[in-house]
Amino acid sequence: MQLSNFATGPHNITVLGIETSCDETGAAVYTTNNGIISNALFSQIAFHIPYGGVVPELASRSQIERINTIVDAALQQASVDLDSIDVIAVTSKPGLSGSLLVGLCFAKALAYAKQKKFIGINHLEGHAFSAHIEHDIPFPYICLTASGGHTALYLVEGFGSYKILGRTLDDAAGEAFDKIARLLGLPYPGGPVIEKLAEQIGFVDDLHYPRLKMRGLDFSFSGLKTAVLYDLAKRGLYDMTSKKSLLHDAKNSENIYLQQQVASSLLVAIGDIFQDRLQQALALYPSVQAITFVGGVACNKYLQQRLALFAQKNKKLFFFPAKEYCTDNGAMIAFVGHYKAQQGLFSDLAIDIF
Ligand code: KG4
Ligand code: ZN
Repeated sequence: MQLSNFATGPHNITVLGIETSCDETGAAVYTTNNGIISNALFSQIAFHIPYGGVVPELASRSQIERINTIVDAALQQASVDLDSIDVIAVTSKPGLSGSLLVGLCFAKALAYAKQKKFIGINHLEGHAFSAHIEHDIPFPYICLTASGGHTALYLVEGFGSYKILGRTLDDAAGEAFDKIARLLGLPYPGGPVIEKLAEQIGFVDDLHYPRLKMRGLDFSFSGLKTAVLYDLAKRGLYDMTSKKSLLHDAKNSENIYLQQQVASSLLVAIGDIFQDRLQQALALYPSVQAITFVGGVACNKYLQQRLALFAQKNKKLFFFPAKEYCTDNGAMIAFVGHYKAQQGLFSDLAIDIF
């Protein structure tokens, strides 16, 4: 990457990236010369499992408890002290307000006390560029971001230069996995459990859920959740009144098979939807060189393989980040902070989370 007008002029920029937008506390160090040299993470998933989803109040409290330790761990792993940091980059939006505020206030205080350059990063830009941490990706390309909070398609033309082509009009893809897992009496987060169940029966599409056709490149996933809900209710396996899955305790083979069928059909439907939007995007931008698949849902091996095959058939390169860079992490924030520092794009300490 080309070094440009970093205001204070060091050639090797060292960036501390901090991420606290939801239920992960992440911190990482990125340098111009060596890329990511540390990546520390604390995941709160275990705290939220009993509730079947992220509880915002618990999430922000846990962020407060962990942030010091995780930032310290990132600095120690990188063998750098705060004085060697040139820039502090932090997720400033979007996300859960309480969680975001912990990271943002922490980073602001550190930047103010240590007189460091400071940059607020959009979490989605972090995900969108996360595949660059390990790969050299030629511009322009199409990026499919699918996480628990967002699903969107971008045309990426350069570092920090991207155009949104489509986004979800209701639930995000990861949210669909999480909500449907709950209907099936499965634990949070739904994505990994659903992948495992689908794999057990070979990713077959027995239940043929609807693939909602949209005008343009937007997505909609709430119809999938409703289709599963009504199907389970009809089978007497979901209680609409108490809003409880009746599959929770029933571990007979018939019910397990149904969980596998729902999981598998859901995954195939989401694969079809992703492929359809990518096909439309390629028709609009045939000269793009590559496709990237990022965000928590990009951990999914079935979806990775389907999209890799799709890219190959369309003669495009295909990239996705390593698992630790798919789900929320400080490394992607440090990475974006680094190119923004190179571009001289710093933030005022007065920025907010909105
Ligand atoms: O990017 P991420 O860590 O957080 C947000 O920014 O939302 O994504 C979390 C989401 C969850 O909805 C989770 O169910 C989904 O990513 N996920 C998966 C898999 N692993 C995590 N979805 C499908 N398959 C997976 N293997
Ligand atoms: Zn995320």
